[in-house]
Amino acid sequence: MRLFKTLAGLRCYLETARWRSLPVGLASPEEKGKLRQSPKAVIGFVPTMGALHPGHCSLIRRARQENELVVVSIFVNPLQFAPGEDLHSYPQTLEADQEVCRQLGVDVLFTPDAAALGINGEPLTQVMPPAPVLQVLCANSRPHHFPGVTTIVFKFLNLIQPDRLYLGQKDAQQLAILQRMVQDLNLPVEIVPCPTVREVSGLAYSSRNQYLTPEQRLEAVHLSQALQQAEQLFRRGERWANPLVTTVREHLLQHPALALEYVELVHPVTLTPLEEIVETGLLAIAAKLGQTRLIDNVILRSRSPIIAIDGPAGAGKSTVTRLVAEKLGLIYLDTGAMYRAVTWLVLQSGISLADEPAIAELVSQSSIELISTHAAPVVKINGVDVTQAIRSPLVTSQVSAIAAQKAVRQQLVQYQRHLGANGGLWRRVGISLPMFSRKQS
Ligand code: PAJ
Repeated sequence: MRLFKTLAGLRCYLETARWRSLPVGLASPEEKGKLRQSPKAVIGFVPTMGALHPGHCSLIRRARQENELVVVSIFVNPLQFAPGEDLHSYPQTLEADQEVCRQLGVDVLFTPDAAALGINGEPLTQVMPPAPVLQVLCANSRPHHFPGVTTIVFKFLNLIQPDRLYLGQKDAQQLAILQRMVQDLNLPVEIVPCPTVREVSGLAYSSRNQYLTPEQRLEAVHLSQALQQAEQLFRRGERWANPLVTTVREHLLQHPALALEYVELVHPVTLTPLEEIVETGLLAIAAKLGQTRLIDNVILRSRSPIIAIDGPAGAGKSTVTRLVAEKLGLIYLDTGAMYRAVTWLVLQSGISLADEPAIAELVSQSSIELISTHAAPVVKINGVDVTQAIRSPLVTSQVSAIAAQKAVRQQLVQYQRHLGANGGLWRRVGISLPMFSRKQS
């Protein structure tokens, strides 16, 4: 692991590391082809303020899995603290943090001081989030905070130029504001949101938990418990903001050590206040325990989450997907079976595999059924049960050629989205839909 404190050192190292880390010597001819198309090493970046805990570690682990180079920054950013906040007492555990990063396989740890970043008390050019996202949740009591966060993260993105930026759902407003910044300013980085990691008690890990006494820790647990109660109400069908917010308030009233600052229901992406949850809501909470300010949130989704599993042929994708879906009570959508069914149909029809317009038309005029059973789903195309036939060596050898055709992909993706939106129906009885509505003559 390399440790940098200066911009020049970091920049110089990244310039060369982007190229050096490519396994060109080891690559197979096909991989070399891919590397030529994408010559730079993929960089994942995890910005932090240190005092690393399992929440931070989950972001770093994810970045390690998905990127060739992992950069972590530790910088207690003065721009995001107002006078009187805990800038000077913020926990600093640099030695332990370095060890954590080393063990997690971080390539570069960047620990600049304020001066190195040109932060010296003089006014700076700032990145200002749009007004509406600064009128809700934490921004009401911490108006300086988010412009300080966007400015520092923008600076880091310019310096490091990562391909992916890993952020925690724990700071949901920060995540939404940074997503908005990346979108509005067309920054070439993909944000990867990571779920909140909690102690067994339910308390979300936070560097500020270090301020809590053992008694306060017991009280702090009620933040997540209050949110859980609202979540249960939501699961029972409640969609209106008022009862959901009231449940949280009432739970916290029984724990007066927690001084509630806000409980609000907003849209998780736009942060617009919601009266009712149509699809997704972010129920967020902030409270003070003594001098320590704690935040937590839960995403309430009326649609089931979508989990995609990808991998090479024969790796067991279908088996794993089926087991995961069963365990989590989700829809099992075997998209591979759909492409296979279309391939089978094309082979039966005698249309040349190269005749894309004819194949597109054939697909648009066909109907496909995936019928959920306890074993593998039954697959039908135009009413014919092809569950076995689509596993034949001939179909297997041709399916990638069909799946590569844009028109086929577009129609099947549209169909899969439709199935996703009708997930409940699919789960209970299976579903049969025309892939494309027939033209009325
Ligand atoms: P910090 O509080 O150190 O958090 C760094 C990252 O870890 C953030 O993306 C945060 O959302 C994530 N994180 C914190 N606690 C988490 C938990 N329990 N589970 C999952 N992720 C968690 O957030 C900041 O620093 C700063 O504002 C920063 C983005 C570094 C800019 O200064």
